[in-house]
Amino acid sequence: MGRAMLCSRLPALLAALALLAVWGPPAGASDQAKAPRYVGSAVCAGCHPGQYERYRQYSKKAHSSRGVKLMAKGLTPEELASCYGCHTTGYGKPGGFTDFAATPELADAGCEVCHGPGADHVATSDPAAIKGKLTVADCAPCHDDARVHAFGYKPLLQAGAH
Ligand code: HEC
Ligand code: HEC
Ligand code: HEC
Ligand code: HEC
Repeated sequence: MGRAMLCSRLPALLAALALLAVWGPPAGASDQAKAPRYVGSAVCAGCHPGQYERYRQYSKKAHSSRGVKLMAKGLTPEELASCYGCHTTGYGKPGGFTDFAATPELADAGCEVCHGPGADHVATSDPAAIKGKLTVADCAPCHDDARVHAFGYKPLLQAGAH
């Protein structure tokens, strides 16, 4: 690599290092205890009855565990677990869905799959403690590119929600 090229890359390198310093290393096991936890959509209903009613009535997410439960008999435990990340709330994350018996309140894909874990927001009512502005990146883990393009993200940002 030539000296000139190295120099031209230096600003970018420094910027990346500065970002690392601000954000710190990825969250490790020690951060899990204080990571915000999931509460389930019914808890949100108390303060956001309108959003909750519309979600419950019109969003397929409000019963997304149904299809999985119907298909469960034909699946191995590993296959069944592979459904949970998209069809339930917070599977594999601190305070998230574990199984239908232990965490029935998180069995469907609830408010918190889009807005993030809500325990801190519920405790404080602080709007800054919950994700309010969403982008397509918040949908991508469950809706792959083809699906997002198929449903046309912009007009449907609120569809499937409330
Ligand atoms: C104890 C009452 C309370 C509960 C329970 C509650 N919220 Fe809120 N929420 C508020 C208040 C107050 C605001 C700020 C005023 C407003 O936007 O209605 C707010 C605002 C919000 C906002 C907008 C944030 C922004 O950036 O403007 C979102 C999104 C939200 N809540 C989602 C949720 C979700 C999801 C749950 C359940 C996990 C929930 N809330 C439970 C009281 C509550
Ligand atoms: C945790 C996974 C997950 C995330 C994140 C997610 N979705 Fe979904 N979504 C689903 C699942 C699962 C279904 C299908 C539920 C069923 O039919 O059983 C669905 C269904 C939908 C549908 C179909 C119509 C309907 O009435 O429900 C739309 C539209 C949708 N999602 C939009 C979005 C948008 C926009 C975002 C991001 C802001 C998003 N979703 C984020 C899992 C997710
Ligand atoms: C990567 C995320 C993801 C995974 C993993 C996933 N699904 Fe889905 N599933 C979705 C989305 C999103 C939809 C909504 C339809 C679409 O976009 O194609 C859906 C739709 C469905 C539907 C149709 C529901 C209806 O109302 O018509 C069934 C049934 C279903 N999934 C079952 C399963 C099962 C069983 C598994 C595990 C073997 C699974 N899914 C794994 C994201 C996922
Ligand atoms: C599919 C993703 C998704 C789900 C599920 C979802 N929301 Fe939202 N929510 C959104 C989007 C998108 C906005 C608009 C954000 C913006 O203006 O950029 C929003 C905005 C809000 C706001 C701010 C006021 C408003 O209505 O615009 C509140 C409060 C809220 N959501 C509560 C809830 C509650 C409570 C639930 C569950 C009953 C829920 N949301 C489920 C995507 C979702």
